[in-house]
Amino acid sequence: MSGAIRHLLSMADLDRDDIDRLLNLTESFAEVSERQIPKVPALRGKTIAWLFYEDSTRTRLSFETAAKRLSADTMNFSVGSSSVNKGESLRDTVETIAAMGVDGIVVRHRGAGAPHRITNWTDACVVNAGDGWHQHPTQSLLDIYTATRHLGSLEGRRVAIVGDIKHSRVARSNAIGFARMGADVTFVAPRTLLPASLEGWPVKVTHDLDEVIEDLDICYLLRMQRERQDDAVVPTLREFHEEYGLTTARADRLSPGSLIMHPGPMNRGVEISGEVADRPNAVITEQVTNGIAVRMAVLYLLLGSGLDLVEERTQVA
Ligand code: NCD
Repeated sequence: MSGAIRHLLSMADLDRDDIDRLLNLTESFAEVSERQIPKVPALRGKTIAWLFYEDSTRTRLSFETAAKRLSADTMNFSVGSSSVNKGESLRDTVETIAAMGVDGIVVRHRGAGAPHRITNWTDACVVNAGDGWHQHPTQSLLDIYTATRHLGSLEGRRVAIVGDIKHSRVARSNAIGFARMGADVTFVAPRTLLPASLEGWPVKVTHDLDEVIEDLDICYLLRMQRERQDDAVVPTLREFHEEYGLTTARADRLSPGSLIMHPGPMNRGVEISGEVADRPNAVITEQVTNGIAVRMAVLYLLLGSGLDLVEERTQVA
């Protein structure tokens, strides 16, 4: 993309320079987050509306915290208690919110492409916080940020994304994101948990985690999306754990310095053994922490007044 970024809908919209720019901004906001008063006036006077049609704990809290630290006003549109239950269409809902004067809309929706459609109905900047199986770009950015903090450049790094690829927007976002950063990405899953076609995807595929485990720099586990599966895609969760889970024995075969990642929420004992999730090279809670600074960077870039961060730092000092 490069140049002015209006919306963040998909990792496919970001080129390497855009990602680097966001990572640099994230670094500055991580520093803000460590201050005694972790707040800057960067988005004072701007209003952001939350439009979450799907359950979310960490993503929503993370966005809300990011907005607060940037001094933005927020408008909480609670889908459960809104006229959506009275049959209001997505378009009417968005136009109603837009009519109240919002600068940004952060949306999570079960329909792939919903955030893109919203951009046609409002002048506000739209951030995709997860759309169906399609994309979850801020998750990918926080994963890239967390990985680079530990590994430096991701050029040539070997990343396995393991488990329920088929139903995962995180897998689709990270395949693009990590590949853009020069990493070598492999999807590891049984046939039943892979999309029908992977043509054009910047990934390799294997059905055998044991074949690749020792070579990995990052072992990225996905949650089994049981709520999105209509048929039995694995024989039993126990068998899935034995074949595709990061068991204690497999985690012992990871090379020193490699990272274990997971977007959360975790199913301990399914895609990852409970003990492995707490090992020092598992950076899962760090991913959550970094999510705030990354979302500050995204909101700032899309909605920001253009003030230089350094200038703002002196304003708040
Ligand atoms: C992910 C999501 O919602 O796509 N979680 C998240 O954003 N924290 C992954 C998941 O639900 O498994």
